[in-house]
Amino acid sequence: MTETLLRGRLLTFHREPLESSDTEAHTYLEDGGILVRDGLIVASGPFAEVVREAPEVEVVDHRPGLMMAGFIDMHIHFPQVQVVASWGAQLLDWLNNYTFPAEGEYANAQHSRAMARQFCSLLTDHGTTTAVAFCSVHKASAEALFSEAADRNMRMIAGKTMMDRNAPEAVLDTPQSSYDDSKALIADWHGKGRASYAITPRFAITSTPEQMEMARSLAAEHPDCYIQTHLSENHAEIAFTAELYPEARDYLDVYETYGLLGPRSLLGHAIHLKEREIGAMAETGTHPVFCPTSNLFLGSGLFDDAGLRARGITSGIATDIGGGTSYSMLQTLNEGYKILQLQDQKLHALRAFHWITRGNAEVLGMTDWIGTLDAGTEADIVVLDPRATPAMALRMEKVETLADELFVLQIMGDDRSIAQTYVAGVPQKGA
Ligand code: GUN
Ligand code: ZN
Repeated sequence: MTETLLRGRLLTFHREPLESSDTEAHTYLEDGGILVRDGLIVASGPFAEVVREAPEVEVVDHRPGLMMAGFIDMHIHFPQVQVVASWGAQLLDWLNNYTFPAEGEYANAQHSRAMARQFCSLLTDHGTTTAVAFCSVHKASAEALFSEAADRNMRMIAGKTMMDRNAPEAVLDTPQSSYDDSKALIADWHGKGRASYAITPRFAITSTPEQMEMARSLAAEHPDCYIQTHLSENHAEIAFTAELYPEARDYLDVYETYGLLGPRSLLGHAIHLKEREIGAMAETGTHPVFCPTSNLFLGSGLFDDAGLRARGITSGIATDIGGGTSYSMLQTLNEGYKILQLQDQKLHALRAFHWITRGNAEVLGMTDWIGTLDAGTEADIVVLDPRATPAMALRMEKVETLADELFVLQIMGDDRSIAQTYVAGVPQKGA
């Protein structure tokens, strides 16, 4: 048995805060304790109370660090670690010029393994303890990522990308091989340890109707797997999709036709939506995923957060590396705040920190395991330093409330503000 007691300021959410004055949605403690045993949180609360449960245990004192649940990144491309910051193109050219060639390299299992190591380290360096990841088309890339995550006991939701057209040969599969490889990966990884499988047709443009049929079969045969793809990110993408699927009422209808909508479906971007599409997403419980840094970098457009929320749709939020420009969920919140500002919408700090923790966990249906500091959940924990840079420290001199402090972290924070990241109770920084 391994047991540790973490001490520090503590913040955890019980539900989404409705507005910045809604302080009932969270617990904040100036002197908190989290008792971790064998990778699980067994108690959390005021330090003085928690320490009574284990008076002999080793205490790791993170004060004045702020402990909260590890961040969850709801959409990220593992084989794009070397695509980040590729110059000048919007979506389709960016895919053709930079992304597909880079993903071709993941046919090589050794390359996939080396990059998986870097990828997982980058996630935890930035405070992210769970990711929902696209792998490349190659089965070896998904094997490398699942295997690396398992070695670290890290919760990982991932899938081999299915793509059988409109890309170079090196990143194409076939309807049958995409089915067979996905099926084998599900058998090997889904539900094993902390791994979950996401059936991953890349997007309508790179899948023939025959491959979409295979995705439908996989989804029907494995209703407990997630489904991830992309939707309505860019105008040229939407126009090309309409040409390829002339029968479809709109872009979403392609996925709807093949039985790919529902509460376990995660649709990256979802920016330029028609009224019918919004209605269908609401009705089926399908989740859009907001990717702020990517939407700005690729010039894709402004995600209508308030409009979707008003329809009862719950969205995830994500980096979308390598269209996205930072692994940091804090920087993701920063750019998300600005995208909402451009539409006269608001992303207040309490809601922002709920979103990247419990909010994303709720979208995944995983709040029993991740996203909070509740007893019984997995000990994925981040310790934040709001004074990590001289500029932040100076700004913090004028901060009086928790909400103000969180807003400084939301706007100015990045990996320098991550003092420590625990994955299943094990510290990752300086390890
Ligand atoms: N649409 C299809 N593939 C991709 C991808 O890799 N990144 C982004 N941002 N959009 C996509
Ligand atoms: Zn993406």
